[in-house]
Amino acid sequence: MRIGMYPGTFDPVTCGHINIAERALELFDKVIIAIAHDNYKKTLFTLEERKQMVEKAVGNNPRFEVCVFDGLLVDFCMEKNATAIIRGLRAVSDYEWEFQMALMNKSMNPEIETIFLMSEHKYMFISSTIIKNSALLGGKVTDLVPPNVEKALYQKALQENNNHYIK
Ligand code: COA
Repeated sequence: MRIGMYPGTFDPVTCGHINIAERALELFDKVIIAIAHDNYKKTLFTLEERKQMVEKAVGNNPRFEVCVFDGLLVDFCMEKNATAIIRGLRAVSDYEWEFQMALMNKSMNPEIETIFLMSEHKYMFISSTIIKNSALLGGKVTDLVPPNVEKALYQKALQENNNHYIK
């Protein structure tokens, strides 16, 4: 059984991420969507919120497993018997950081490959940060995030007294 590991912060998951995860299912029997526990990023959503949003967005496809992880990604790959890390590439600007991470992971564990999938053109320009910034200021993000994520952003905006979010 070929298992791929799709890691990220997913704060929040976007349609771009889901698109990469679904295309990875063409290459692997099972794809683990691994949500980083303690990343260097300050997140808007808690770990549990991020996990629930991903779970709802992927539905109940048994070929997806949604997990949270702490510590080194390569160690988590070994624990889960994943042979490859899947990453999405949007633009040239992603390349340098992705290249560094892939080589670092490779130097720590040469058995684990990193596979890059090009982002679909309609999701090329989005990132979780740009989605959050836009949604919390009242911008529409329909079609860029799954419906449950749009709702969660709306609720977050209300909580933060940002009542100008337009649904
Ligand atoms: N569509 C939309 N957005 C996309 C995307 C796509 N196809 N592909 C990437 N992105 C965006 C993400 O939304 C995110 O946006 P943001 O910066 O605005 O939040 C950005 O691109 C990349 O973030 P993410 O995918 O979350 O990765 P990351 O660079 O934050 O790295 C880990 C996260 C979890 C992979 C990495 O930190 C890790 O492996 N941590 C574990 C510890 C470890 O092993 N460290 C050594 C590794 S070198």
